[in-house]
Amino acid sequence: MNKNYVTLGEFIINNQHDFKYSSGELSRLINSIRLAAKIVNHEVNKAGLVDILGAAGDTNVQGEDQQKLDVYANDVFKSALINGEIVCGITSEEENDYITIEGKYNANDNKYVVLIDPLDGSSNIDVNVSVGTIFSIYRRITPLGMPVKKEDFLQKGSEQVAAGYIVYSTSTMLVYTTGNGVNGFTLNPATGSFYLSHPNMKFPESGNIFSINQGNYPHFPKGVKDYIKYCQEEIEDRPYTYRYIGSMVSDFHRNIIKGGIYIYPTSSKAPNGKLRLLYECNPMAFLTEQAGGKATNGFNRILDIQPNELHERSPIFCGSIKMVEKAESFMLKYKKG
Ligand code: AHG
Ligand code: MN
Ligand code: MN
Repeated sequence: MNKNYVTLGEFIINNQHDFKYSSGELSRLINSIRLAAKIVNHEVNKAGLVDILGAAGDTNVQGEDQQKLDVYANDVFKSALINGEIVCGITSEEENDYITIEGKYNANDNKYVVLIDPLDGSSNIDVNVSVGTIFSIYRRITPLGMPVKKEDFLQKGSEQVAAGYIVYSTSTMLVYTTGNGVNGFTLNPATGSFYLSHPNMKFPESGNIFSINQGNYPHFPKGVKDYIKYCQEEIEDRPYTYRYIGSMVSDFHRNIIKGGIYIYPTSSKAPNGKLRLLYECNPMAFLTEQAGGKATNGFNRILDIQPNELHERSPIFCGSIKMVEKAESFMLKYKKG
């Protein structure tokens, strides 16, 4: 291990002053997420092992383990955030409603709410394919000293103060932004520390990878169908390479490094798309823009959407700026009204 590698802990302390509300609270919050990520990483790795054993014996265990892991990751992130005594509210893809934190400390005096997708791509767990966690952090808008309200969570993505993801894969990485670019840290399992391995991550302006579940092709809007045909055409630098893992975090992580576009559009079967605005689209859109890319719902900037519901869904087109703009141009051709 190169002695010059900066750990995530050091990086948080060194860069605290870059954050406009620099009070140390956000740093403590990211520390709680770092801790939860290590615990979930350990469990995800074990689950893979259990699945290998399960495949030779009791196949039912795999389905149950996968469900358990969703709940487990949710519990770990919730506990780490609550025990860190640093948030006033949490909402999660796995919860019906938002959680106000009452009890052992004066949580109502805390400034931040956290929104999480504790395990993203969880259908990949039983086949030992990479999964992730997505998190998004806002300052509360209701006054301090009171329990949080729904409106604290229903803020536009442009109000995020931090967002990031953890990808549990061949190596485990934590990638996050506090609005000053995107940095990636790799977990060294031997030392248990995350090290800055991918400083200042940027989407290449263009790329040659497109990621979309083409199984849904018959149900896609015409603009998306035309864009897929465009990607497949044999002209100039095309056809593009097609890659789809089925875990947004992993697909995004590949695309940010190599250059590409990730699309989860509307379809006749899912008129608002599948992905959740608060737990998936907004944090990934914030990271995308901070990495020099573009994230839209096909027509408008994701970060400008005013959410109305905690579990609201949105279509998303995100990645290398030129690729997203091209996809948008196809969408525009069929725009109604
Ligand atoms: P989650 O596991 O949190 O429900 O998210 C899964 C999401 C996303 O990660 C992935 O890109 C997408 O669902 C895959 O959906 P399809 O199987 O419909 O392509
Ligand atoms: Mn998800
Ligand atoms: Mn999930």
